[in-house]
Amino acid sequence: YKTLDDLDVAGKRVLVRVDFNVPMKDGEVTDATRIDRALPTIQDLSKKGAKVLLLSHFGRPKGKANPEFTLRPVVKALGDKLGGPVEFADDCVGAPVAKIVKNMLDGDVALLENTRFHAGEETNDPAFATALAENGDCYVNDAFSAAHRAHASTEGIARILPAAAGRAMQRELDYLKAALAEPVRPMMAVVGGAKVSTKIELLLNLVSKADILAVGGAMANTFLFAQGRSVGKSLCEPDLADTAREIIAQAGKSGCDLVLPIDVVVAKEFEEDADREVAGVDAVAADGMILDLGPETVDLIVEKIESAKTLVWNGPLGAFETRPFDTATVEAARFAAKQVGDAGLVSVAGGGDTVAALKHAQVAKEFTYVSTAGGAFLEWLEGKTLPGVAALEASAAK
Ligand code: 3PG
Repeated sequence: YKTLDDLDVAGKRVLVRVDFNVPMKDGEVTDATRIDRALPTIQDLSKKGAKVLLLSHFGRPKGKANPEFTLRPVVKALGDKLGGPVEFADDCVGAPVAKIVKNMLDGDVALLENTRFHAGEETNDPAFATALAENGDCYVNDAFSAAHRAHASTEGIARILPAAAGRAMQRELDYLKAALAEPVRPMMAVVGGAKVSTKIELLLNLVSKADILAVGGAMANTFLFAQGRSVGKSLCEPDLADTAREIIAQAGKSGCDLVLPIDVVVAKEFEEDADREVAGVDAVAADGMILDLGPETVDLIVEKIESAKTLVWNGPLGAFETRPFDTATVEAARFAAKQVGDAGLVSVAGGGDTVAALKHAQVAKEFTYVSTAGGAFLEWLEGKTLPGVAALEASAAK
């Protein structure tokens, strides 16, 4: 794919797809991480004299304009960070955009209203992609976290205008490559979360690529169940026992060291500071609920992390939102973070609850790279081609 270094942008209108699908409350941005990540691209283009037109979706307004899903609150958050004014167009196509562009000077930045106010965005309607493209001379995609969507602003438009990856997109792809496609070995994956059902393809892909795969979280219960163990009242997906056995068999075939729990933390109630005990995986009581990995399992995972040179992490290892069932997640994450400094471990994390779990462990900043992507990170771990990235590659090959 091309990058900002390959585009001649001075005096040009550059449409930049960012992901400003940010947490908001009462009309204010509550977590600006995704805005921060977009700044290098915006500033680079602005410095080079481009007229920067930012495109993004926000929420799921289902193809209709809806004030509940306006991107307007981002104007202030972004303006504060850029230290200059940001214009806002109350549509992402047509006259409202043209009017703003007419008054822009080289280097100015404007944000366009939610692309999902148009049904053509999600259906990737070529007519809508063309309407978007009409207000730009070239296109930059800096929204890795939306790259798993084949939408008009992430895919269709890249087939119309000269297209390049932004700085955040480039960084993301570089780290993902270093973590999974061309890792320094041994490469270890840590996968947690509640359900095997949402991560079947991811687990199958990882057992074929990783040297070590540790499975935690409630999804590990399904593996224990598949091995014929009783998991009491724990969250479990009995229907997926065959899938779990298939993953275990696949690990054997590909020589992947699959690390499953050997002990667990069990409680009768799922609440903060509930009475709890550590049990071996063969001794979970019928009325018990597994809520975290036990200390021996944590020691084992820590030992494996110590042996790894590359670590990919997705999903919490226990019910980390409820203390003390955050113990395994916090201890393993802190050890991984320490290894980055102590042993040069390359640690890459992302997807869904993962960032929240690392922030809870206060190590999000110590990891080598933390992706802001949810679904896109998971699809990448599944080994899928992301349409937004494929469109950039196709554009460069033209
Ligand atoms: C995300 O928050 O993961 C991305 O912005 C994609 O949002 P979506 O799941 O609504 O497409």
